[in-house]
Amino acid sequence: MIKDHFTVAVVGCGIVGGGTAKILHEQASDIRNRTGIDFRLKYVCDIRFDNARALGLPESLFVTDYKTVCGDPEVDVVVELIGGKTLAKSVIEEALKSGKSVVTANKALLAAHGTELFGLARENGAAVAFEASCVGGVPIIRTLYDGLLANNINSFIGIINGTCNYILSAMISEKKDYDTVLKEAQKAGLAEADPTLDVTGHDSAHKLAILSSLAFSTDTDLSAIPVEGIDRLDLFDINMADEMGYTVKLLAIAQKTEDGISLCVRPSFIKKDHPLAWVSGSFNAVSVYANNLGHSMYYGQGAGSLPTASAVVSDIISLALGYKETRFDTLRIWPDKNKRLPQLPLDRYSSRYYLRLDVEDKTGVLAQVTHILGKNKIGITEAVQKDPQPQRPVSLVLTTHRTTEAAVRQAAGELRRIPEISKVITLSIVDEAE
Ligand code: HSE
Repeated sequence: MIKDHFTVAVVGCGIVGGGTAKILHEQASDIRNRTGIDFRLKYVCDIRFDNARALGLPESLFVTDYKTVCGDPEVDVVVELIGGKTLAKSVIEEALKSGKSVVTANKALLAAHGTELFGLARENGAAVAFEASCVGGVPIIRTLYDGLLANNINSFIGIINGTCNYILSAMISEKKDYDTVLKEAQKAGLAEADPTLDVTGHDSAHKLAILSSLAFSTDTDLSAIPVEGIDRLDLFDINMADEMGYTVKLLAIAQKTEDGISLCVRPSFIKKDHPLAWVSGSFNAVSVYANNLGHSMYYGQGAGSLPTASAVVSDIISLALGYKETRFDTLRIWPDKNKRLPQLPLDRYSSRYYLRLDVEDKTGVLAQVTHILGKNKIGITEAVQKDPQPQRPVSLVLTTHRTTEAAVRQAAGELRRIPEISKVITLSIVDEAE
């Protein structure tokens, strides 16, 4: 039953919590006009209120104990925006056990414990809504549980970490190396003081786990996702990509095959005419390939206070409008309602590849390289030799026909055993609809 008012408690008043409280406090009448429902912010729960005060939120909302919020029968929804996997989990469990639905942006928690928390929600007649957990303000979760319901999703590719995309975009446009750009981004507040979760690809993996669970109606195993970040990328390869008509992006890739699903996060070459190549700076996007719709792409700000709060508040509104009954209770796409599909090892991943070999410029090396690639059934599409630069060996750059990760790994291992080859870099190439 749709009520004419809905009472909200925000737990955690940082960047996203502050934005959420601000929208609910300042835009309540606009939202009432659009929905016919009176959204009442009753609590802002935190241990410090500097941000809440700076935003002009009334002191009467402030509480420090989340149990007060979860125990208040007037509260309809608890909005967990603390982050992390410890206290945040306790808050969500307490709220759900009190029969209150939860809105959260907590990708790390959901990727690790989503199935368990969804189950707990059902046991208690509540729901968990989590639009803000993936791709910030872009309604990609809604797209999967609503807009694309008539489709089987074959695959999707996402640029789902704004920090990495910002760093890569700056490396490409300013021709600066990773460490320089990262330091500049941190100084400008565009990268965290500790950027590890972002640059190692693990933040993208959390989002990939959540998105693949919904896209493929499965319970995804986060720990089985192979993850590679941008922190070991060399400017040389980024410049080569540019010269060869590609751009380098950190991609979260999901493919469904007859044998299972293949998931990975890795820096990859992508053709400059692919729409994902145009996604630059801190923007995020997800390209989805569905059997009836074909290719569609969802683009926007994947982080930030108001963009992420936009997704949080839309979830609060959705709950008030009956999301629990019409979506959470009904649909069979949620991970706790489904068995885990087999997650294929990275060896089975197939794509074209870029190979860079740093070699001594001696006669016969190229013949050995082509022999090894041929033995592993890897066809070459392009070969370029870059002249020695100061303090660099000759770089032999090759691109391949479509092959498998297993073949490339085997060949790379053999190439590394050639004494004249000092380095072998492999990166996958995405250049067609997956
Ligand atoms: N730190 C993330 C990003 C946003 O840079 O996209 C939150 O997941």
